[in-house]
Amino acid sequence: MVSSSYSLNMHNILLPTCILILFALIKTSSGQLSANFYASSCPNFSSIISSAVNSAVSNEARMGASLLRLHFHDCFVNGCDASVLLDDTANFTGEKTAGPNNNSLRGFDVIDTIKTQLESSCPGVVSCADLLATAARDSVVALGGPSWNLNFGRRDSTTASLSAANNNIPAPTLNLSGLISSFSNQGFTTNEMVALSGSHTIGQARCTVFRNRLYNENNINSSFATSVRANCPSSGGDNNLSPLDAATPTSFDNAYFNNLLNQNGLLHSDQELFNGGSTDAQVRTYSSNPATFSTDFANGMIKMSNLNPLTGSSGQVRTNCRRTN
Ligand code: HEM
Ligand SMILES: *[C@@H]1O[C@H](CO)[C@@H](O)[C@H](O)[C@H]1NC(C)=O
Ligand SMILES: *[C@@H]1O[C@H](CO)[C@@H](O)[C@H](O)[C@H]1NC(C)=O
Ligand SMILES: *[C@@H]1O[C@H](CO)[C@@H](O)[C@H](O)[C@H]1NC(C)=O
Ligand SMILES: *[C@@H]1O[C@H](CO)[C@@H](O)[C@H](O)[C@H]1NC(C)=O
Ligand SMILES: *[C@@H]1O[C@H](CO)[C@@H](O)[C@H](O)[C@H]1NC(C)=O
Repeated sequence: MVSSSYSLNMHNILLPTCILILFALIKTSSGQLSANFYASSCPNFSSIISSAVNSAVSNEARMGASLLRLHFHDCFVNGCDASVLLDDTANFTGEKTAGPNNNSLRGFDVIDTIKTQLESSCPGVVSCADLLATAARDSVVALGGPSWNLNFGRRDSTTASLSAANNNIPAPTLNLSGLISSFSNQGFTTNEMVALSGSHTIGQARCTVFRNRLYNENNINSSFATSVRANCPSSGGDNNLSPLDAATPTSFDNAYFNNLLNQNGLLHSDQELFNGGSTDAQVRTYSSNPATFSTDFANGMIKMSNLNPLTGSSGQVRTNCRRTN
């Protein structure tokens, strides 16, 4: 009796202790980022970034979407370390030609412009990874979406991974279980995956990524399909663009979820979130409750921005985001 109750107690203590230690370790890995990281070294960095983002977005609303996506494609590939910004050279292969990125990512010139301004105010201080995280947040705000508080101190990689970019960034051909595992591989829950997919309330996609849905799928609204087909023929026109959210293409709102209820999702992967599966209820919730979507989206973005950063003396602060120092 005594020994069995003793071993029971040991389990009761050991297991929670192990879990606590695990949480403590996980916390430290992003715990080195801090809200006031640039308070003395570059006090004006956030106004420099927000002014530049506001002017880029007022010049072209889509740029807000493109900057948000750059941060996502950075963080899902070995963490938020600005690896996505490195140019290919004769002896270096970066991530820009990966399937999800090639002829698709944009906004690199805007990042260069902002980096030049940061370098002139505070040379060698603000990392490209922090710049991306901040520009993504400010882009969402510029298009009417929620804001969130970021921590800073991410450093920039000296490496990139073409294969991780090809493997880790979810493809629009994925079904619901594929989307769930792609996000789960980065530590996200299904709920967080659905919230973050709400990014497709802004921005555009190329005909080549949704053509199959227009011509071969049956969970698509027929009047929506007819109108999108007009600019995306069954062959040719691969680079023709359509808005991901035809209802309000340049407003960061919850219309994306309402579209899904009407089978107006543009990508196969979008409509998978409302196709009779386990995420239907959450799509309904977001479509009727914009505040819930805003909160969940902001929390998802904070979590994404904290994926595996380089901190301390790891990596470097690039002076030009396109190449290592
Ligand atoms: C859930 C899985 C996701 C899939 C399968 C996916 C796939 C895609 C595809 C195929 C495009 C169009 C690319 C092109 O036509 O070249 C796109 C655009 C976009 N994606 Fe996603 N995406 C996903 C999640 C996300 C997340 C989590 C974010 C941000 C946090 C995001 C932000 C965007 C934005 C803003 C655009 C428009 C970019 C622009 O107009 O330049 N996506 N996505
Ligand atoms: C901070 O940056 C903003 C935007 O570039 C600029 O308008 C403002 O004058 C700057 N303030 C200081 C103190 O440098
Ligand atoms: C790679 O090429 C650049 C010129 O593009 C050169 O400056 C650099 O030394 C080369 N690095 C290596 C490791 O060969
Ligand atoms: C990237 O796109 C260019 C066309 O702009 C194409 O020539 C090249 O083969 C593509 N690269 C890969 C790896 O698909
Ligand atoms: C989802 O896609 C995977 C991989 O293509 C496939 O193995 C699986 O059967 C699909 N699941 C459903 C429910 O269709
Ligand atoms: C198709 O979309 C329109 C709005 O764009 C909506 O009024 C209609 O109910 C949708 N049809 C179906 C079957 O969901």
